Amino acid sequence: MLIKRPNDYLPSEITPRGLFERRRDFLRLSTAAALGAMLPEAFANAKLAGIRPGPYAATDAQTPYSKVTTYNNFYEFGTDKSDPAETSGKFRARPWKISIEGLVKKPKTLDIDDILKLAPLEERIYRLRCVEAWSMVIPWIGFPLSTLLKHVEPLGSAKYVEFVSVVQKDTMPGLSGFGSLDWPYTEGLRIDEAMNPLAIVAVGLYGEVLPNQNGAPVRVVLPWKYGFKSAKSIVTIRFVDKEPVSSWMKAGPSEYGFYSNVNPEVDHPRWTQSSERRIGEFFKRKTLMFNGYGDQVAALYTGMDLRKNY
Ligand code: MTE
Repeated sequence: MLIKRPNDYLPSEITPRGLFERRRDFLRLSTAAALGAMLPEAFANAKLAGIRPGPYAATDAQTPYSKVTTYNNFYEFGTDKSDPAETSGKFRARPWKISIEGLVKKPKTLDIDDILKLAPLEERIYRLRCVEAWSMVIPWIGFPLSTLLKHVEPLGSAKYVEFVSVVQKDTMPGLSGFGSLDWPYTEGLRIDEAMNPLAIVAVGLYGEVLPNQNGAPVRVVLPWKYGFKSAKSIVTIRFVDKEPVSSWMKAGPSEYGFYSNVNPEVDHPRWTQSSERRIGEFFKRKTLMFNGYGDQVAALYTGMDLRKNY
């Protein structure tokens, strides 16, 4: 069963136009079969135990599970919003290991089961604002990213953290798309951003383990930044001394910056960022500075000109 994309959903606007058009041509020609792929009959749906309510629960209405898990950006599975749910059925989220390395005292390779035991699981209901000007409200399950990072005792020389997503060639049809991103998908944060209490490692949503299309088995969630900063299906976390260059910075340096904080005053070169479409709602809403999380994160950027350092 193909999920039809409503006409008003713009296709893959995050992609620089040239890249996008080349990829669409390629898709049209060669992956008609993949587009006809079946939606997996059932998602993993396994319940996570011992979840407690966490801080920062947005009071906005939550976006239904059916939308959160079928309207996705996960280019490794294809560029249409429905691709990740339709083509990620063969993805292997277990066994799974994350290497935490670089400028740290105790580099470690942790199994997903070790990670799940690092801290009590919390529910964090966060707004997610995509750079494409749509948004959702998602009840994530996870724990503070700082807990995971402190585990390896970062050195004083570490100034940034790099997140690297998995490359699973045999299960990710989007990887071979002509003119696609420079894989693996890579993102980065300044250390103090990564240690901010709002930043989480997510292992689930709606009380269940993360579906493949949402970044199974582990991703980060950074609700004050555009969604593309929240790398999915992470296999490496690397502490470095220089600002990492992310996949999107490489693909469109004039369109995607390192900080990418939600900012209604700095438009994307091809569209306004002053408003957004909340998935499931008819009228547009005004976009809030830092996606409404200014009280928690504005101090990280004191003295910085956020119009230039986007
Ligand atoms: N991570 C990887 N590895 N690949 C991607 O294509 N897309 C990003 C981000 N993380 C992406 C990724 C973008 S653009 C967004 S908006 C969010 O994931 C979407 O997360 P969701 O599908 O769980 O809502």
